[in-house]
Amino acid sequence: MTLLDQGHRMTDPAVTDMVCEAISDASPRGIAAAVNRLIRADRLHVGDRLPTVRALAAELGVSPATVSEAWQALSAVGAIESRGRAGTFVRSSQEPSRPVRYLSVGLAPTVGGLDLSTSMPDPSLLPPLEKSLRSLTSASLRWTTSYLDDPVLPALQVRFLESWPYEPARIVTVDGALDGLSRVIDQVVSIGDRVIVEDPGFPALLDLLDARGAEIVPVALDDQGIVPGALAAALEGDPVAVFLHSRAQNPTGAGLTPARRDALARVLARSSAVIVEADHSGLIARAPDLSLGSRLPERTVHIRSYSKSHGPDLRIAALSGPAHVVDPLMARRMLGPGWTSRILQSLLLALLEDPEAEECVARARDSYHRRTENMTLLLEKQGIHVHPGDGVNLWVGVEDERSALLTLAASDIRVAPGSPFKVRASASSHVRVTTALLPDDPDEQKAIARHIATAALVTPSPRGGVS
Ligand SMILES: Cc1ncc(COP(=O)(O)O)c(C=O)c1O
Repeated sequence: MTLLDQGHRMTDPAVTDMVCEAISDASPRGIAAAVNRLIRADRLHVGDRLPTVRALAAELGVSPATVSEAWQALSAVGAIESRGRAGTFVRSSQEPSRPVRYLSVGLAPTVGGLDLSTSMPDPSLLPPLEKSLRSLTSASLRWTTSYLDDPVLPALQVRFLESWPYEPARIVTVDGALDGLSRVIDQVVSIGDRVIVEDPGFPALLDLLDARGAEIVPVALDDQGIVPGALAAALEGDPVAVFLHSRAQNPTGAGLTPARRDALARVLARSSAVIVEADHSGLIARAPDLSLGSRLPERTVHIRSYSKSHGPDLRIAALSGPAHVVDPLMARRMLGPGWTSRILQSLLLALLEDPEAEECVARARDSYHRRTENMTLLLEKQGIHVHPGDGVNLWVGVEDERSALLTLAASDIRVAPGSPFKVRASASSHVRVTTALLPDDPDEQKAIARHIATAALVTPSPRGGVS
């Protein structure tokens, strides 16, 4: 008996009958509408297990894709939720699912104190915009006038390709790396699909995959990224996609080496999963940008953000991939924002062509590296061993996450909790420190390192406080 058969037996047959009877139009929209009406009429209740995609498709005489599309629409409005292999259930409220992990990292701006929780670039190290804004000529400003111009500035495309790690079939702009991830998920992941992610990984990505109703399969990392043996085991479950960082992994700072890229490519060649690489640190990372696209171009999507190097508010990332992923993604995007504002694209192009801006980015890259190294050494002197990674963050092991956060907050220092990054429950605790935002003054760095080291060693007191 297959797992799907077992799943079907676990659904109350009365529920399957009721759902089938309620459906008069067996299109995705008709199925979704019928199930939604049953929930609103209180005939389907919170926690009721819905028939599996395959079982309902067989009952209705439609393809599984039709039911899957209906389940996705209901999932997107929060009416139902996938619990992986356990099945799909009516949800407790019809509110759209909230990005719980992302929100729990704490995105609200802090007032006063030192906020090292944000994974943001240092504003004082971003290239100034004035010169590039002034350089925007009337020729580039005419871009405001039309719906019909190229969605991607051809000159920017050429610029991207000059530093791209492989020759892609398509390269386009999207509104930041997270927008790119979200749009790729919409293209390649359906409710109930298995997807492989790094553990620990990016909370917003995990939230997006949850909202899609995907079954998240975590794989372990070391300082070169995903561990090939762990990936090989996870691929046994036939996932539709593998999400990874090419460099400066968030939160650990891990990055692919050529040998690891090739080892992963050999493992991935045996599967059909789409590979989605996020290079969210882009040009401020020290490691070269390596991509599995140089080995498996037909299956790889590579996304590079310019937020950390040129400013988060530019909202630009470059996304490359095969035509079968990128073309529908761009077509779907026309039913919404349409394209990344060509004014912003012109601004990024001006910045990328300006040697002074390039120097600024190089200076930022060096400063982030120095700040991370300094903090690593200072923590080491205090007996706290951390592995310095690439990019803007340091992943610091602590005795107890909550105690560390509270202890640091008492000294007006905020860092990000580690738990939203973890897919599997873990015996160890961490916090993420955005070292890019550290001051350069050595005495201040020492004082901050002392606070972090103290906080790392605090254990919860038996009475619930910290000791
Ligand atoms: C892994 C990862 N992806 C994407 C983003 C968001 O990047 P963007 O500003 O390009 O959307 C971040 C932000 O820190 C990130 O850490």
